[in-house]
Amino acid sequence: MKEVKDLSRKEAEMELALLAQKIAAADTAYYQNDAPDLTDAEYDALKHRNTEIEAEFPDLVRIDSPSKRIGAAVQSKFNKIEHKFPMLSLGDVFSIAEVADFVMSVKRFLNVAGETIDFMAEPKIDGLSFAARYENGFFISGATRGDGIVGEDITENLKTLKQLPLKLPIGVPEVLEIRGEVYMAKSDFLALNERNTASKKKIFANPRNAAAGSLRQLDPRITAERKLSLWAYTWGEVSERQWNTQAEFFEKLAEWGFPVNPLNKVCHTLGEIEDNFKHITEIRAELPYDIDGVVYKVNSLDLQNRLGFLTRTPRWAIAHKFPAEQALTRIDNIRIQVGRTGALTPVADLEPINVGGVLVSHATLHNEDEIKRKDIRIGDTVVVQRAGDVIPQVVEVRLDKRPANAVPFEFPQVCPECGAHAIREEDEAIRRCTGGLTCPAQAKERIKHFVSKDAFDIVGLGDKVVEAFYNDGIIKHPADIFTLEERNGGVGDDLFAFGDEGLHLERRAGWGKLSVDNLFAAIRARQTISLPRFIYALGIPQVGSATALLLAQNYGTFDALQHDMMLRETAKLVAIDGIGGEMGNDIVEFFNEQHNINEIDKLRQYIKVENYVDERRNDSALSGKTVVFTGTLEKMTRAEAKALAQKFGAKVAGSVSSHTDYVVVGTDAGSKARKAVELGIKTLSETEFITITES
Ligand code: IVH
Repeated sequence: MKEVKDLSRKEAEMELALLAQKIAAADTAYYQNDAPDLTDAEYDALKHRNTEIEAEFPDLVRIDSPSKRIGAAVQSKFNKIEHKFPMLSLGDVFSIAEVADFVMSVKRFLNVAGETIDFMAEPKIDGLSFAARYENGFFISGATRGDGIVGEDITENLKTLKQLPLKLPIGVPEVLEIRGEVYMAKSDFLALNERNTASKKKIFANPRNAAAGSLRQLDPRITAERKLSLWAYTWGEVSERQWNTQAEFFEKLAEWGFPVNPLNKVCHTLGEIEDNFKHITEIRAELPYDIDGVVYKVNSLDLQNRLGFLTRTPRWAIAHKFPAEQALTRIDNIRIQVGRTGALTPVADLEPINVGGVLVSHATLHNEDEIKRKDIRIGDTVVVQRAGDVIPQVVEVRLDKRPANAVPFEFPQVCPECGAHAIREEDEAIRRCTGGLTCPAQAKERIKHFVSKDAFDIVGLGDKVVEAFYNDGIIKHPADIFTLEERNGGVGDDLFAFGDEGLHLERRAGWGKLSVDNLFAAIRARQTISLPRFIYALGIPQVGSATALLLAQNYGTFDALQHDMMLRETAKLVAIDGIGGEMGNDIVEFFNEQHNINEIDKLRQYIKVENYVDERRNDSALSGKTVVFTGTLEKMTRAEAKALAQKFGAKVAGSVSSHTDYVVVGTDAGSKARKAVELGIKTLSETEFITITES
């Protein structure tokens, strides 16, 4: 076989087509027919070759490339189940000091600095979460977590798990949704892999993958053949909550016949939390199943309710993960990535290495000072580390292994993508390309951001396709996405019927008609978009999803936001709790840059931005109102009061202005209370405020 670097474009293109076909056939044999026709090594070799060629010829990456396919091809065929209450995730910490911070923040929020708060410490099971719904004591449906909002219907698969009770004792709540983790015991995993080796079937990388692959089977008979276990640990919808603490919940679970992990333990102090973590760390290897940390939950449900939730995680729980996994490997090259806002980030290309079950071939080097500080050179052997889902990092250089020809890295002073000056501001760590949207890298990154999951979420426009379309001049700006179908020259069976007019993606990108139709359908489906997504998609520096949501909540319509920003009307903006002066500046500047104005104008010819409708309590006296807190509150902390106001649909501002509706005045209130009186804004005592939220 020819080396990849010796391939001509034509040869590369043909081989990629062949590989896509072979790998797809192998996937079908494996997933659909449960009869693999390749060994794992053969399969991996094909995938590897595909990756190599794609790396060498990025513009030849196919829309149906195997590198874009994740896992089981059958997944889309599961029915969807919407979770009544979202299945959330947990914040991660990696040290006892951070756990101490968490405990402190809980206490600060509740204003109980001197008191003890009990935490339930539970092993964090490394499996996949499930939700099982019971009505009148009978198991009626089961779902995977999915994206937390909508999961897959795995009712039949769950029924095959012997540990899951299908009928509960008399007296359970009428509606009861139990959640927990499905896992494969280490011994069952090894046995499965042994059997699969013998029968030349797929070898799973770890018990988690094996559990996922076994549970998410369209044919539940396959699930039944695999040994899966479970632990129950929380609940979703319940018609009547019969417990007041997490500990009491575990007692109920056990009574009802669910497996409850015997290592779950109430800790009264930080010392106990630490001892427990040490103990669990020590016995980790001997446990019959994989865990990746310890979860701490405030034991009292009253306190949990007061603490509430952040965007995606509860304030009352956290995951204390085991330390990151490390490995030694070599730096083959250092290259510069140019981000959406022009930041130049050095990235190390590594000799691929398995770090805790994941193949790592790149690591971020953060910035030029980091490279200097750690004295990282091309050719060095380094310790790389992977913690949670973060991008792998280089921890240190092994100087004892430095070869004589290791090359120090010269950080470029110009953008490697467009040649514009790259400058570094006085107090900044990051060097930035000054090319703006004339820099192809920045332009491409902005498009990638625009179509990404939390923005327009256009399936079919993955990174590689965006790159290829940009390079071909097909999509130069986000707005071009929405003229693609029209410019394509229509969709017809006879691809050559349109002469040379139009783009003919079918021919140019080598896609099938179906892929092209799917892409157009995906784009059309996004021509109406929610306000928070639209704001986020614009790629305003510093504005992530959470800030975009705040802006949407506070301005309600895109016109209102744009109007204020273009007039540099910042009073309302910087009064928003969570938007600081610097961020405010970036937002205003963004809306006043001519090319952004043009782009927004163009976009709005093709898409409809929905006004923001606050889904939070909009029947309360606080909904839509702007509230400012001042002075000391007696019955709750400031943080708790803010969260409460937000829960009832209010916006919380940091300063009093003509936009303020209520000022809640605690004791020792100062200038804000005076200003409220001056401006004739209604003031509320703490008790009045609470009464409103209770009414
Ligand atoms: S509680 C709102 N408890 O970890 C809290 N999760 O990062 C919901 N997990 O998706 C989760 N063991 O899959 C909880 N004892 C435990 C857990 C646990 C494992 C997983 C679960 C969840 C993820 C959160």
